Parts: sequence; structure tokens; C-alpha cells
Amino acid sequence: MNVFISRVIPGIALELLQDAGYRVTQFTERRNMTRQELIQACKQNDALLSVGHEHLDKEFLEACSHLKVIALFSVGFDKVDVATATRLGIPIGNTPGVLSAATADTAFLLMLAVSRKAFYLHKKILRGQWNYYDPVANLGIELSGKTIGILGLGKIGYEMAKRCKGAYNMKVIYHNRRPNPTAEAELDATYVSFDELLSQSDVVSVHTALTPETKGLFNSSAFDKMRPGAIFINTARGGIHDEEALREALESGKIWGAGLDVTNPEPMSADNPLLQMPNTAILPHIGSATVESREAMARLAAQNIIAGLQGKPLPYPVNPGVMVKKA
Ligand code: DGY
Repeated sequence: MNVFISRVIPGIALELLQDAGYRVTQFTERRNMTRQELIQACKQNDALLSVGHEHLDKEFLEACSHLKVIALFSVGFDKVDVATATRLGIPIGNTPGVLSAATADTAFLLMLAVSRKAFYLHKKILRGQWNYYDPVANLGIELSGKTIGILGLGKIGYEMAKRCKGAYNMKVIYHNRRPNPTAEAELDATYVSFDELLSQSDVVSVHTALTPETKGLFNSSAFDKMRPGAIFINTARGGIHDEEALREALESGKIWGAGLDVTNPEPMSADNPLLQMPNTAILPHIGSATVESREAMARLAAQNIIAGLQGKPLPYPVNPGVMVKKA
């Protein structure tokens, strides 16, 4: 059977798939595949390892309903029409857990960078503006003893909360679909409503999935409810914040700053005004970009493909109940 990988990923995936006896083709060009190219490639294959955050919507899935399995090279599955995949009997797999620490590190890095205006001050050196020692310029704020508000206390949110508690003894509050007793016991975390999260947090860090409920959740009304000196961090999905509203909140000084690993759209345009603001730190969606995480993601994705092609339940399923197609 044949497997298509839509971008170059760590070699362990190829090794595992080839050792299992599958013929693997990979898209090696350094650009996004077009929709038509992806469909054409899938038509010649039995399984897709989808890497480039491709939109696997109804149209795509119906055109490729022969696929026996789709493995995502991500934990997020907001680009996939899971209901249609389930209806068509296509099991979808993702890569949970193995990128939680790396993504939480990215959120922590952004929080610290924003609190000390690090990205902006670095740009000032590059512009030749490091002129003299000024005791009342370039001032940041400290994080010790402040309150971190986690939206979405799953695996990544938990890792972020743990870092904040361990490094700065921050008070942890969170809002989630359901309470997280482990975090309450281990990190002394307190469940609050979304509005309480906004009004009580010195740092709000977003770790929830992009869904119809969370799309645009951080709008001007949400930023209005945040503390005046608060920091907004988003390492989840760019669609969860409204960029105009965020820019307005930053320009007007409603909030201290923002750290983003995700934007809407991605890639962010190089002339986006957010990139030049003193109180922002922006990264190009590198949450899981460590050697360790990406290798582990490749391994999990390959394991999902192998299970799907063998007609077995996927080890890391997005739609667990789906009837797998005959091997
Ligand atoms: C994920 O795994 O969902 C990360 O955002 C990388 O895409």
C-alpha cells in the first residue's frame, strides 16, 4: 500500500512506514501544495500524512474518500471536517502529548519576552539606537507572585501553568470546559468563569482549540475586561483573537502587551504593524518546533498510519469510533 506525506518531516516516519512494508512518497518542494495537487497525490495513495495544516474539508474528503487513514502532523485538528471524515469512514489521527512541553516553553518565552519588551529592544540595537544608559527607559514588569490565567487547561495549558508556578510562584486560575482536579491538587489552580479569568489575570495564556465557540473570543469586549497592565499570550490558534481588537487594546494601553506564536492569517505579513510595536513579541508558529517534539510527532503520525492501514484502531485517534476501512 502507498502513503503520501505532504511535506518533508523527520526521517523516522519514513523508516517506520517503509519497515512496515509501505511505499512512501513525499512532497519535497519548499512551498504549500495546491488543493488540486494534494487531491491528485492522494488519489494515487491509500493514506495521507498531512503536514502543512492543509484544509481537509468536505470537498477534499469527498474527493479522497478512498483514503484508509489520515494522520495529522499536529495535535490541532481545526482544519479537518471531522464529521465528514467520520461519515466517510476515514479515521483521523493526531499527535497529542509529545508537543506539550515545547509549546508551553514557547508560551513562557513569549510571556517573559513581552514583560521585558525583549523583541522590541533587540530591534532597537539593530537600528543603532543603543545610545546610553537610561535608568528610566526600557522598563519591563516582573512576574513574581502575579496571576496567570489559563484558558484551556489541557496538556499544554497544564505545562504552562506548571512553569509559571515553578518559576515565579504565580497564582494559577483557569477556565476550561470542565474542571481539572489534577491541576487543582498539584498547582493549587482555581477554576473561574471566563469573565473572572479576564478580570483577575495579570497574564492570560490561551491554550484552547479553535472551534466555533472560541473563534474571535478575544474581541474588544474581552480585551476591555482585562486588567490594564495585563499580558495576552496566544500559542493556540490565531483565529481565537481578533487582530484589530488586539491592536487597539495595545495601542490604547488597555493591556501591557501581547505575545503571539499564532496569527490569522499565517504566515503574517512582514508589514503587519503588530511586528513593530514595543509591547509585542511574535513568532512564526514554532510551538512544537524542537528536535525532540518533531521527531516524536513523526513517530506518532507514522504509528497512526500503520494502524489505519492494518485496519486497526488508531493509537492517537481524533474520531475514535470511526469504522476503519478493510485493510
Ligand atoms: C499543533 O500541533 O496543533 C501545533 O499548532 C502545530 O501545528
